[in-house]
Parts: sequence; structure tokens; C-alpha cells
Amino acid sequence: MRNDRSVAEIASPRRRRRSIFLKMNMSPARPNSESLEDLRREIFSLLARAVADRRSPMRTPALATTDPAGRPSVRTVVLRAWDPARAEMQIHTDVRSQKVLHLSERPAAAMLFWDPGRRLQLRIDGDVRTSVDDAVAHAAWSKVPKAAQRLYGLSPAPGVTLGAPTDYRFSEEDAGANFCVLTVQVERLEALKLLPDGHQRAVFSWPSPSVCEASWLAP
Ligand SMILES: Cc1cc2nc3c(=O)[nH]c(=O)nc-3n(C[C@H](O)[C@H](O)[C@H](O)COP(=O)(O)O)c2cc1C
Repeated sequence: MRNDRSVAEIASPRRRRRSIFLKMNMSPARPNSESLEDLRREIFSLLARAVADRRSPMRTPALATTDPAGRPSVRTVVLRAWDPARAEMQIHTDVRSQKVLHLSERPAAAMLFWDPGRRLQLRIDGDVRTSVDDAVAHAAWSKVPKAAQRLYGLSPAPGVTLGAPTDYRFSEEDAGANFCVLTVQVERLEALKLLPDGHQRAVFSWPSPSVCEASWLAP
């Protein structure tokens, strides 16, 4: 069964396939080489679907930041927007959250996606812009359903210690002021596809937002 493959199998691809990866790495791989371009299209289309489709497994990636002590900090988020032309992703959050504090000191993040059906992992690195009470935040806020807007009026702030699990309330007044958009400028996207005949790993990088380079990597 494909789903029962062990970590050891994942870490040890077949030799026959490895030579193909090496050959591809020796020639300059570009995104317009056919199969890298196919993979890029597939990934971009999955990311677009993740934003639109609540059932997409790519909709809820992990977002990692670095805390002020330099320790990694990771949590699940919802992918709210993907702009392939600018290589940007957006996440909505509460400006009072720890992740925003982390990003104010070190505005860089990593994201991790896993689609078990396609056996496809995506790892993303990028710098992050934080938008609060500006044009980006206002545009996004206007599209947030009323029921979800309310959640940003949480009092006390996220992460504050409570005496009981429901010792909190929501105030509609403050909600908009707490709303924050995180825009991840994707600089590097690594894909790993687990395949029965040998895994495939590729890296896409953006030296500038409109230029995408790609190459295969040994898995
Ligand atoms: C399925 C799922 C989706 C979530 N989506 C978001 C999200 O889009 N934005 C967000 O700020 N927190 C989201 N959370 C909550 C975060 O995982 C996290 O608990 C919260 O943001 C506080 O994180 P922080 O203290 O590290 O900032 C989600 C949690 C789950 C389980």
C-alpha cells in the first residue's frame, strides 16, 4: 500500500532514479523545461484551489516564525490569498498574536504544506510584510464574513492566561483594529513528490517577484 511506506523508504530513493536527477542538475534547468513547468503549474493551481476550496488539504499550512529568543515557533493557519504573478501569499491574523510580535523583530517565515492525496509536500521561505489599518488590511477586511470579523474583537488578547476556558468575550468595536494581514513574499518554494518509482524534489526560487527559476534536486 502506498500509504504504508516507511520513512526509510522515503529517505532512500531508488538508484536508477537518482541518476536522472543528477543528469537534470548538470544541465541548466529552467522553469520552461517541460516537466518542471508542469510541476510549477500543478503547484500554482493547487495553491489557487487551497484559497477557494475549504476542503483542500493545502488550505491549512503550518507557518513558522522565530521568537525573540531565536527559537522556532510554528502554528496552523489558513491560506487566504495566493498571487502567482507576485509570488505572494496572504494570511489573516490578530495583530496582538505572538506570531506578529515575532515578525516585528524578524520579518521572515517558513510555511509547510502537505497534500496526502497527491503525496506532495511544499516548503516555503520568504520575508513577511505586516499590514494593519492600511489599504491592504482594509481591502481584506471588507471580504471577511461578519461572523469571522467578530473573532478579531476577542478580549482579552490571544494568549492571555484565563481562569476558565471560556473567560473571554468578543467586542465588534475593536475587531477591525486588531485585524492584520501577513503577506509572505515567497523567495523559495521546494516541492517533494513521493512517487512509487522514485521521489521527485524541485526548487523554485524568485530572485525578484516576477522571475521564477527552477531546478530539480536529489530527493
Ligand atoms: C485549522 C486551523 C486554522 C487556523 N488558522 C489560523 C489563521 O488563519 N490565522 C491565525 O492567526 N490563527 C489560525 N489558527 C490558530 C493558530 O494555529 C494559533 O493557535 C494562533 O494563531 C496563535 O498563534 P501564535 O500565538 O503563535 O500567534 C488556526 C488553527 C487551526 C487549528
